[in-house]
Amino acid sequence: MAAFAVITGASSGIGAEFARQLAAQGYDLLLVARRTQRLEALAKELPTRCEVLAADLSQTEVCLGLLDALQDRRVDLFINNAGFGACGVFEQVDLAKELQMVDVNVRAVQILTKGMVQKMEKQGGGALLNVGSSAGLLPAGPYMATYYATKAYVVSLTQSVAAELRARRSPVYLGCLCPGPVNTEFNAVAQVQFALPGISAQACVRSALAGIRRRKTIIVPGPMMAVGMTLSRLVPRRPLIAMVAHQQKRKMGR
Ligand SMILES: NC(=O)c1ccc[n+]([C@@H]2O[C@H](COP(=O)([O-])OP(=O)(O)OC[C@H]3O[C@@H](n4cnc5c(N)ncnc54)[C@H](OP(=O)(O)O)[C@@H]3O)[C@@H](O)[C@H]2O)c1
Repeated sequence: MAAFAVITGASSGIGAEFARQLAAQGYDLLLVARRTQRLEALAKELPTRCEVLAADLSQTEVCLGLLDALQDRRVDLFINNAGFGACGVFEQVDLAKELQMVDVNVRAVQILTKGMVQKMEKQGGGALLNVGSSAGLLPAGPYMATYYATKAYVVSLTQSVAAELRARRSPVYLGCLCPGPVNTEFNAVAQVQFALPGISAQACVRSALAGIRRRKTIIVPGPMMAVGMTLSRLVPRRPLIAMVAHQQKRKMGR
């Protein structure tokens, strides 16, 4: 029987590319997002069995429904990828948008990580990848404050749970993908321009899948970004936050 993977946020960008590369490796897939037409078009183009599920993961009951739907199936790989950002001066960013971001980037990841770790332990193994961001490895992100905070949550949660799994020699792998800029629809949704050149979704996903094979907890795609994130640890917090603020302002075209 083919291995089975579930990808959230598979209707574009990094999620759609995970679908392409995993299908090329022979995985059957469940593609999850709100835009079903996009999911169906992608499923048609892929060489393996691909199901699609329309789901707004900002809704708690929808996340729980996804776990229910998977109850009787073995899941070999689960990619918690759905997410989005918003940019601007904190007090001017729309509160409803921020709360939806917290629901998708944090609440959904919380619910699905717990549910999948429990399920994968029961089934005797599996791999789970949370898509964080290099934003989550930095201390703060002025002018994109809520997005940085949500991704810091994802990085912290993933590292803690991964350490618990390692300590009890669990057969379940949990990792966090922390990309820098990747050329997807993310910018259009967040209404920003990258201050640094982005890598392709193809390169990002190749690096993610190599990191999963090596059981890495934090995966930073691209040698430049990996070096940058390592060097950032040497810079004291306050000047580092000022540097991030400068980059964010450039993204907003100020
Ligand atoms: N691009 C970057 O530079 C970058 C860097 C670091 C991390 N990331 C992270 O990578 C992940 C994928 O982003 P991307 O760059 O591929 O952006 P993207 O092309 O905009 O894709 C975002 C995906 O998330 C899905 N999504 C958003 N809200 C959703 C909701 N309420 N329910 C279900 N699905 C939802 C979207 O599907 P629908 O709209 O069809 O629902 C879409 O498939 C995100 O978590 C993002 O934070 C991106």
